[in-house]
Amino acid sequence: MKLGVCYYPEHWPESVWAEDAQRMKALGITVVRVGEFAWSRLEPQRDQFCFDWLHRAIDTLHAHDLQVVLGTPTATPPKWLIDEHPSILAVDENGQTRGFGSRRHYCFSSQVYRQECQRIVNKIAIEFGAHPSLIAWQTDNEYGCHSTIESFSEDAKLAFRSWCEERYTTIDALNTAWGNVFWSMEYQNFEEIDLPCGAVTELNPAHRLAFWRFSSDQVAAFNQLQVKILREHSPQCDLLHNYMGNFTEFDHYTTAADLDIASWDNYPLGFLDRDSSSTDDQQKWFRTGHPDSSTFHHDLYRGVGRGRLWVMEQQPGPVNWAPHNPSPLPGMVHLWSLEAFAHDAEVMSWFRWRQLPRAQEQMHTGLLRPDSSEDSAVDEIRQLVSDLEKINKALPDKAARDCEVAMVFSYDGDQMCRIQPQGQNFEPLHWLLEVYSALRLCGVNVDVVPSTANLDTYRFVVVTNSVSIDDALLQSLKSTNAQVLFGPRTGSKTCEHSIPDNLPPGNLQELLPLRIVRTESLPDFAELTTDYQNLSAWRWREKIETQLEPAGTFNDGWGFYYSHRNFHYLNACLKTQSLNRFILERVRAAGVSVMPCEDGLRYSHYGPLTFACNYGPEPVTLETTSPFVVGNASLNAGDAAVFYTHTNSTSL
Ligand code: GAL
Repeated sequence: MKLGVCYYPEHWPESVWAEDAQRMKALGITVVRVGEFAWSRLEPQRDQFCFDWLHRAIDTLHAHDLQVVLGTPTATPPKWLIDEHPSILAVDENGQTRGFGSRRHYCFSSQVYRQECQRIVNKIAIEFGAHPSLIAWQTDNEYGCHSTIESFSEDAKLAFRSWCEERYTTIDALNTAWGNVFWSMEYQNFEEIDLPCGAVTELNPAHRLAFWRFSSDQVAAFNQLQVKILREHSPQCDLLHNYMGNFTEFDHYTTAADLDIASWDNYPLGFLDRDSSSTDDQQKWFRTGHPDSSTFHHDLYRGVGRGRLWVMEQQPGPVNWAPHNPSPLPGMVHLWSLEAFAHDAEVMSWFRWRQLPRAQEQMHTGLLRPDSSEDSAVDEIRQLVSDLEKINKALPDKAARDCEVAMVFSYDGDQMCRIQPQGQNFEPLHWLLEVYSALRLCGVNVDVVPSTANLDTYRFVVVTNSVSIDDALLQSLKSTNAQVLFGPRTGSKTCEHSIPDNLPPGNLQELLPLRIVRTESLPDFAELTTDYQNLSAWRWREKIETQLEPAGTFNDGWGFYYSHRNFHYLNACLKTQSLNRFILERVRAAGVSVMPCEDGLRYSHYGPLTFACNYGPEPVTLETTSPFVVGNASLNAGDAAVFYTHTNSTSL
């Protein structure tokens, strides 16, 4: 794993660039990302290109033996361009145009903007594409950040109508697919279709899903235009985009299909404070991040990147954008990086080199303070560099990250639950993360994979956010020998967001002879108990009609948990403790070797090594008698250690 940093030479006097590069190199950094917001400096006025400064900056990095990732600057169209073409601006669902003055203010459907992006990317690709230091290009920056996937502009409306015509061919087919006879929503032709906003009450979920799919396709098309140009002028470079955490507003698999690597931006403390709904979790992990947040995303994005993962931005200290911005527990900068290594990241890069004392992100820390003195992350990076050396020495040449457990992830399914939640406490990503946490508490590696993945190499597979089962998934489920656990809502809708003719779980009935005849969502105070190992459930439950015997019954007589051959259906959301017990039992039963852990301790395995990370809050003592490569058996909160998984492994 190489170490990297995000650097903005345009923010600093040229006189400090060489010293910056020299300090980066001395710290062990070898990869530097530059350029992704620099349009106003690269082209201050139309067709007046200023590339000299960036040449000098990249040459300086190169002279210090640093490799460069260059970002295309399309997340920040400059003022002159917006003034020339105000139609580039995105429009929110209230019809409000999103203004200039921050970033991501463009509409993916604007043809004018697409041409402008092609123009600038072409220029930059020709100018820098063959530079010997360049190893990769980043397209744009964080597609969708600040809720910018959907735009309700005139351009989007016209493009959506064409998209609908292409997908459904006739208006009758669209009306039927969406069920538009309901509430007299039928259209006579495609020109009548509006974007899903501004209605009196709930919009048709099929209309919203179509618009979500359309918007997602617009991102892929926008990205693809840049990819084509970059491949032509810089064929030796990898192409990537930096995705975000806890973010499902477009289908990442589609965009990623045109790229070589999936990278993502990891802000564990920011994500917890902004996204967690549990006060308990917030209190426990506010200085460490949730113990399963970083690794879930590593596992997800490794799947998105077809095996190739980078962390493009990682939190070095307090950030500026969460509701509160605490300082990480000492040790976390080191620990988060070892997690990235154990999850197969090729590059782990911090955001940012030096804290900028001006503008929106002046309160966001970096590796250096604004006066260039070292901030606290730097010491932890030194420790990391020395630990990575020891780990690399301990790993045999062909060491790999083995994995027997997979979780199928569907962006489409996630969206279906959001569009029609049916219970306000059913948050699809939270439920998925609960299941993921339960798997990680078994001490096993987990792959998060798309529905097209080959499932044959796994022993245990969980499918719990595929609301609609596509053909690819159905076929690989049919052929796998893995034990497959389906969670509630799986297969409950057709791909057009309606209830399947044969009732849920729809086409899964080809694998499991059962039908769901009643679904209920419940407020948090309504706890349901079962006679199966005293497990308790909440929030969501399904009543099943089948010849199969349930494993247990709920207190009111509904059956609980059904199995048929290697397929298993969990028909309720289990409460956390119950879920953890249940999953451990299932994983064991599937023949996976487990290493159970609890609280904030997590294990990851790489070749002959096990990485133990203690997210706290309490110190733990590991019970292994194996030799340690990094650290020892006593782990305070924020500590990580690496040891040989089996006592008989060769020690150094
Ligand atoms: C990311 C973004 C960066 C910077 C960073 C601050 O979302 O890509 O440009 O804003 O957050 O944490």
